Amino acid sequence: MRSLLVLLALVASIYAAVVQVPLVKIEPYRNRLIREGRWVQYRKDRELRRFMLNKQVDASVGQYVNDYEDEAYVGNITVGTPQQQFKVILDTGSSNLWIPDITCGTKPENCSQEITCQGILCQFECHDQACCGAGPNYTDSCFYQAKFDASKSLSYTKNGRNFIIEYGTGSARGFLGQDTITFGGIGEPQLAVPNTVFGQATSLAAFFEGQPLDGILGLAFQSIAVDQVTPPFINAINQGLVDLPLFTVFLEHEGDENGVRGGVYTYGGVDTTNCGPVIAYQPLSSATYYQFKMSAIGSGSYKSTKGWQVISDTGTSLIGGPAAYVTGLANAVGATWRDDYGVYILPCAATIGTVDITIGSQVYNIDSSNTIIPLGDGSDNCIFAIFPFSSGGFGPSWILGDPFIRQYCNIYDVGGQRVGFAKSLQSK
Ligand SMILES: *[C@@H]1O[C@H](CO)[C@@H](O)[C@H](O)[C@H]1NC(C)=O
Ligand SMILES: *[C@@H]1O[C@H](CO)[C@@H](O)[C@H](O)[C@H]1NC(C)=O
Ligand SMILES: *[C@@H]1O[C@H](CO)[C@@H](O)[C@H](O)[C@H]1NC(C)=O
Repeated sequence: MRSLLVLLALVASIYAAVVQVPLVKIEPYRNRLIREGRWVQYRKDRELRRFMLNKQVDASVGQYVNDYEDEAYVGNITVGTPQQQFKVILDTGSSNLWIPDITCGTKPENCSQEITCQGILCQFECHDQACCGAGPNYTDSCFYQAKFDASKSLSYTKNGRNFIIEYGTGSARGFLGQDTITFGGIGEPQLAVPNTVFGQATSLAAFFEGQPLDGILGLAFQSIAVDQVTPPFINAINQGLVDLPLFTVFLEHEGDENGVRGGVYTYGGVDTTNCGPVIAYQPLSSATYYQFKMSAIGSGSYKSTKGWQVISDTGTSLIGGPAAYVTGLANAVGATWRDDYGVYILPCAATIGTVDITIGSQVYNIDSSNTIIPLGDGSDNCIFAIFPFSSGGFGPSWILGDPFIRQYCNIYDVGGQRVGFAKSLQSK
């Protein structure tokens, strides 16, 4: 009997786990560009590129892709044996893991066509993709990033396929490899997932430049993964490595400090330390993103009960929705449109009511501490956390990003195909 218990305990500790991994919050890319006076040009470039991409790419590709230009929550992971460490955005709005490869930023050799263009339009002039930007003024697109060296990993295997992920301001591209990855860095609690396929980027999109950030780890479903790669957490579930097939996200809220502790991801269980009891679960209407139905949104005297498809997305720092309803909310709280920044602003000291979201039979209230966001331009103006977002008629109409997730822990129940919400027990 005793040996059976010991055996069971041993089996449990080998095969299943709940692992809590800390995050840090990094400065919004938007704030940095605003401070450096480059935000307006950045937005123009982005719009232009999106326009060109839409013309070039089949318009039925309706997938929404984050630019991560707002603040971001990043966590450590490792890849390989021995472990090589990377800082990644842990993103419930996408499904691929990729990190820079050791060759990222190396000037390609023997290009049939040396392209000397710079910036966003390069790739439209460039036919030999590997050689884009390979002219005399070639710049290392991943100078600041940690890079993965497959030759130093004993557990690495080649895959042979390529990947490309388009962002508003460029693409991450490269090839796929397979190795052991861990959620959690060296010296932190870790969940190891052997045989995980991931991208090794040989070039990065513009928004990575100078960011304290190496890559992205997507936590959504395989159905929206580029190259249909099994996402790392789904791979962990498939191998029986976690107690429960779900994870909990707790995001701390504080000002615009950079590099401070920002929350905890709990893989394999509900976080009962940082989150209150689960208020309700909402079934997913689509297991692609974490997509479900929101039946109403309002604030003060404004309310719309039209009903929409929404996604819960840790990779978006604001809440995005159709312009008509966002305008209604902005008017209700007295925020004004700032065209050059592309957001509604209001005085940081404004007293506003909660933004109220109805999901299922529950109403979730988001406080002003989560809807009034510092702009970082040294003024007394703040961003109203709700911004106009057009899905272009495809997919979800609203993105419930970090302001919602800071107020309510989200439980991403992959196995149960539902998302749960619990009050976030903030320490401050
Ligand atoms: C990640 O690793 C770095 C370097 O070891 C460390 O400074 C940091 O605290 C770790 N944790 C997070 C959440 O970034
Ligand atoms: C580039 O060309 C040189 C000379 O022809 C050759 O030695 C080298 O191997 C080539 N490099 C690649 C990556 O093909
Ligand atoms: C490279 O950059 C320099 C300095 O910005 C510029 O004068 C030159 O024309 C560029 N060369 C090419 C081939 O683009």
